[in-house]
Amino acid sequence: MARKLAAGNWKMNGLAAALAELDTIAAGTGAEDGPEVALCPPFTLIAAAAERAKGGLAIGGQDCHAAEAGAHTGDVSAAMLADAGARYVILGHSERRQDHGESDADVAAKVSAAWAAGLKAIVCLGESLEQREAGETLEVVQGQLAGSIPEGADAENLVVAYEPIWAIGTGRVAEPPQIAEVHDALRTALSDLCGAQIAEATPLLYGGSVKAANAAEIFATSNVDGALVGGASLKAGDFLPIVEALH
Ligand code: G3P
Repeated sequence: MARKLAAGNWKMNGLAAALAELDTIAAGTGAEDGPEVALCPPFTLIAAAAERAKGGLAIGGQDCHAAEAGAHTGDVSAAMLADAGARYVILGHSERRQDHGESDADVAAKVSAAWAAGLKAIVCLGESLEQREAGETLEVVQGQLAGSIPEGADAENLVVAYEPIWAIGTGRVAEPPQIAEVHDALRTALSDLCGAQIAEATPLLYGGSVKAANAAEIFATSNVDGALVGGASLKAGDFLPIVEALH
């Protein structure tokens, strides 16, 4: 059985004042019998967030560079994230793949860098609407999985998040049978890639317009171990009920 995880991706949202919201989220999570909860604020808030969360709520980054250090103006290394108190990093989000042209090989290199720095990688993948309508969904996500995960995965350092691009920020959530079809296929593909034991224990998250109203149904879906939440992770009042639904 994979551990349960609710992760929030704040994307490019959050000034210092948002740390008060994070405090409320931290105060509402961390029950011994509860799921693991992680929040990934922008780089600028990571150190303060990790300090305030005091380890109960895990903090993560939203990207890192593949190199350890050097002449990469504007970039942040995995070691810097870990040094700031992050325990997770989201890699290969479709917004990075689209806006920054990240390929599967780029993502795999970043995952290796994250692991070298002791971070857990939340590797994102998902099809576009065109790909779904062309019947290519499984082929696309299986290809992304194989290309984005380097050697060295184990159930402690890897989380896979299926985020259909057409469901991100659109309010259009994938139907449970659509989610189940992809998650079942990903579990099998992960088993082929890393072995059955690691595949069974690796959390598979669904992301795309998850909110309190649809969380329970999504969490009851085959091979769903949690969620990667965007918009609904910005406010404690929206995010905590999602965490609660995962109990
Ligand atoms: O990484 C989370 C994500 O892309 C989903 O965003 O706003 O649809 O929950 P949202």
